[in-house]
Amino acid sequence: MKTVFKLMVFLGVCSACSNPLVEENIVKQAFEFADVQLRKAIRDVDSLSDMALGKNGNANLVSPRTINEDGSLLLVPSRDWTSGFFPGELWYMYEYTGDDFWKEEARRFTARIEDQKRNGGTHDMGFKMYCSFGNGYRLTKDCAYRDILLKSAATLVTRYKPVVGCIRSWDHNQDKWQCPVIIDNMLNLELLYWAFKESGDSLYYQVATKHAYTTMRNHFRKDYSSYHVVDYDTITGMVLHKHTHQGWNHESSWARGQAWGLYGYTMCYRETGIKDFLLQAEHIANYIFKVANMPEDLISYWDMKAPVIPNEPRDASAAAVMACALYELSMHSSDKSAEYKKWADKIICSLISGYRAQLGGDYGFLLLHSTGARNFERDVPLVYADYYFLEALLKKIDAK
Ligand code: GLY
Repeated sequence: MKTVFKLMVFLGVCSACSNPLVEENIVKQAFEFADVQLRKAIRDVDSLSDMALGKNGNANLVSPRTINEDGSLLLVPSRDWTSGFFPGELWYMYEYTGDDFWKEEARRFTARIEDQKRNGGTHDMGFKMYCSFGNGYRLTKDCAYRDILLKSAATLVTRYKPVVGCIRSWDHNQDKWQCPVIIDNMLNLELLYWAFKESGDSLYYQVATKHAYTTMRNHFRKDYSSYHVVDYDTITGMVLHKHTHQGWNHESSWARGQAWGLYGYTMCYRETGIKDFLLQAEHIANYIFKVANMPEDLISYWDMKAPVIPNEPRDASAAAVMACALYELSMHSSDKSAEYKKWADKIICSLISGYRAQLGGDYGFLLLHSTGARNFERDVPLVYADYYFLEALLKKIDAK
């Protein structure tokens, strides 16, 4: 009861985030909120998986993704691109609290997706395995996790196309694209950089770095906004199409795509020290926060060129990813550090004061108001918004 009361005060005062005293407690109180929510999420997921098992015998639904239009909880199988985020959130809870309850739950949910280490049918390996097993290995040094991650990285590089200089993203829609590479793929490179450091095999470094350079050349417009999908000819490696599949239209600025680019190049700079990547991240940040159509609270519209702004849904997931990138950038950039941190702090403050889920409700999701794509998951909670929200809170501690 005491915790609930403290949380209600926290949620009430968050509109005054600029107050330094409030600021100091933001991370602590946000994790207390997450503690209540994620315990509920575990209960809800467990009871729904039991029901699914009872009905279908072998439902293989492993973790939550969103709330369906009919108000039910959507659980996904391990092959879904979002399956690693819930275990990742549980690892972040363990990292912050040191409480073994979270370690055990994180282990339990992480184990459910091990089969994905052999799934070479998608580029989403990093999202699935690095967010779950990667955080688990970082925090426990469990050798079994290391082996699973190395196998995952070996599987991911099988999708590298030397003639293109990129890892192929999707295998679907083959009538439309030959070798589609999406901007989201930048985040999967982190697993490869990890595998290079861990195994000493420079192939991982070379593939990741080549992919980042090819993407830098072909995905970005002059103003540093990015396309979502670049399609390449598998024989010549030439660019065939530049599309924006999940955004408003091909020439629009799908918000999460801009966020993946921002965080992707920030991460690539962290892992390589290559200045081109730092400059690219800074240009993208400049586009997002100074050129694009960004609302006052810095929680982007789902597409920055959506047709009826301001009457368009926001995307809290894009904002959470942007906050992660900005906290890191603030530690790398020499002259714009304070500005990046200010933007990140503003995003965190806005998410807490205007986008959080109901305490003890919403199936234990942390944030509302995310948007998956033009045609689905509009203005809903999404598990990856919550994952990157917790990651941003942890980065906020380091970015002080
Ligand atoms: N990687 C898929 C998405 O951002 O929706």
